[in-house]
Amino acid sequence: MRKVSFSPPDITEAEIQAVTEVLRSGWITTGPVTKAFEEELARFLGVSRVVCMNSATAGMEMVLRLWGIGQGDEVITTPLTFAATVNVILHVGAKPVLVDIEPGTYHINPSLVAKAITRRTKAILAVDYGGWSADYERLLEIAEGSKNLFRPRKNTPQEWIGRILVMADAAHSLGATYKGKRVGAVADVSVFSFHAVKNLTTAEGGCVSWSERLRPYDEALERGLRLLMLHGQNKDARQKYEGGGWQYAIELPGYKCNLTDIASAIGLSQLKRYESMLAKRKAHVEAYNKHLSRFSSLIIPHNPPWEGEPSYHLYPLRVPPLWRDTLIKELAAAGIQANVHFIPLYYHPAYRFLRYRADDFPVTEAFYQGEISLPLSSAHTEEERETVIRVLGEIVSSK
Ligand SMILES: Cc1ncc(COP(=O)(O)O)c(C=O)c1O
Repeated sequence: MRKVSFSPPDITEAEIQAVTEVLRSGWITTGPVTKAFEEELARFLGVSRVVCMNSATAGMEMVLRLWGIGQGDEVITTPLTFAATVNVILHVGAKPVLVDIEPGTYHINPSLVAKAITRRTKAILAVDYGGWSADYERLLEIAEGSKNLFRPRKNTPQEWIGRILVMADAAHSLGATYKGKRVGAVADVSVFSFHAVKNLTTAEGGCVSWSERLRPYDEALERGLRLLMLHGQNKDARQKYEGGGWQYAIELPGYKCNLTDIASAIGLSQLKRYESMLAKRKAHVEAYNKHLSRFSSLIIPHNPPWEGEPSYHLYPLRVPPLWRDTLIKELAAAGIQANVHFIPLYYHPAYRFLRYRADDFPVTEAFYQGEISLPLSSAHTEEERETVIRVLGEIVSSK
């Protein structure tokens, strides 16, 4: 039986070569390849700068810390996400405030965000579920409109924009667009993931970008993030070896989440052919749509009502809730790995203390109960995709 993996990494000889070159180069941690990857990412996103880290989780946490968000503050997000989104809020000591997704979308509901804003709200952390951009224009308008409530913490970047930070958990959406711009250039700050199952991978990795509105603070943002991500050292390892410049200062007790050149070599290599990887994902999605829309019991994924193109990260199919779990097992028995995105946060024991219940989130709950994410990767062949379509079609027809 041929297996169809859920999201195999798309690794070619080019990535293997690039990693080998770094391994032979005499410099394997953060250095020139990471710098080149950051520059190429900035060009791809259409932003001034990009800072790479070893995960999106680290990227989001470092942004919250740089922003001076912590104890006594609130950050609004949605339960339809991975634990990382809410864990980083808890790590910095702030309170996550969860609101439902908007009907007809996979995204945080801006009207509920507006209602949830208090004097303590310091950020909105929207999730680009499945690779579709959230509705950042509306979220930015809401943040602007609530300026009168906002009390920036002194000597933090909160003073720069004088309002709630609109942040994108863009873990899924590298390459997606929103109203003519790439995600990464739209929200105030965006954080991408290069985890092994993501569209573009470095095995583990991520990066932070920011919009034009923050361009006057380019230097401060980059320096602040680089300090936080490397123990607060004012030089990275390579700078310490160059020209006898061994001296350094620890300016703050920072963290350790830099990206290595080995990892960046994979990413840089993938970025060179990323447009064609996106095109392959799109072709798989279009084939799924064409064949699966014939079944009245299935609801195929849809674009949200705002303009933009997704990055085709997930294929969230909706099936009758009573079928969901057996269907995943039947697919598995036929060698096809499916998945569910996501078990909403309110179901996890770790967040029980927040006292949310499924009833508080009717739209998320209805979506979750019937959701199946089908295998999707630029590494899948047409044959693998056709296998999924055939097997799923047989199972659904037999119901
Ligand atoms: C929505 C979302 N946010 C954040 C993350 C965390 O990404 P990373 O593993 O790079 O920290 C993930 C990873 O699966 C995710 O799905």
